[in-house]
Amino acid sequence: MKATNETEKIISEQLSALNKIGTAENLEEWRVNTLGRQGVITSILKSISSLPAEERKAAGSAANQGKIRLQDAFGIKQKQLLANDSSNSNDSLDISLPGRPTTGGKLHIITQTIREISSVFVSLGFQIEEGPEVEWGKYNFDMLNIPQDHPARDMWDTLWVEKDEHTNSEPLLLRTHTSPMQARIMEASSPPIRVIIPGKCYRYEATDATHEWQLTQIEGLAVDADISFADLKGTLYEFAKRIFGRDRQVRFRCDYFPFVEPGVDMSIDCFKCSGKGCSICSHTGWIEILGAGMVHPNVFKGVNYDPDKYKGFAFGMGVERIAMLKYEIDDIRNFYANDLRFLSQF
Ligand code: DAH
Repeated sequence: MKATNETEKIISEQLSALNKIGTAENLEEWRVNTLGRQGVITSILKSISSLPAEERKAAGSAANQGKIRLQDAFGIKQKQLLANDSSNSNDSLDISLPGRPTTGGKLHIITQTIREISSVFVSLGFQIEEGPEVEWGKYNFDMLNIPQDHPARDMWDTLWVEKDEHTNSEPLLLRTHTSPMQARIMEASSPPIRVIIPGKCYRYEATDATHEWQLTQIEGLAVDADISFADLKGTLYEFAKRIFGRDRQVRFRCDYFPFVEPGVDMSIDCFKCSGKGCSICSHTGWIEILGAGMVHPNVFKGVNYDPDKYKGFAFGMGVERIAMLKYEIDDIRNFYANDLRFLSQF
């Protein structure tokens, strides 16, 4: 019993000595004297064999438990000293330094442009819809008054989706424009309709500075009992001013799109040179920004709308083109090259 008490006394003396240690050198000294080969614990363990037999077991157990406590306490102390040491060293935290700037994520310039354009039309009473990028030939062409063998199909070089031999389905394609949504929306609802449809389109196209095989369009459609060409002009004029500046002029010229009659393209006077002629407007003073027209009676018939009862206008524009003009970007391939030096400018 006496030996056990003595051991416990030594252990607690060693622990309180350990507690007071403040330097790595003193800690090492303590370790050698206490846990080392010739240290206190070793001599206690050695002395056990000379004890009376009935005391040995208890004394051995007290010595071993004490050793474990001392080893644990040593480990903790060692960690504390190390932590203090690094906080005192030269590379310690300087809370007076300004923080490192973090680079936040951003919306892609095309998404930003879609939102900017959409908000103009939303404020004019249009709703936003989206549609499938993989489309039936029926919606992409037939219902837009572009019959099977009509040469107008060549206006859109199409990427066809390979036919599954097992399903005898209609031909599928990647939509070449957002116009198929005109037919889908009219089929699913009745007038009045005022809707815009932003989305990706695909074309079988060799890429260069102004052509990409993937592009983004915004389609627009308004159908009602008494819509006229003046509504088309007023709506698109307001759009042009809000996106390209209040003092913009617009010009409409006849153009051909199978799903509208009359069909037009709309240009704005060059916002860079105000019509004098520069590289942005190819020295013409005018920049073409979209196609539009009055919905063709055949398109109405295809969705069971009475062309004598309803009129409508439609338009479609390329979002990349609008962004290129607005920000003076000279190569469409920049948009999807994922170069952060380009993207982070917007
Ligand atoms: N879908 C046409 C294209 O991709 C653009 C277009 C022209 C859409 C006239 C229209 C429109 O709705 O009325 O070239």
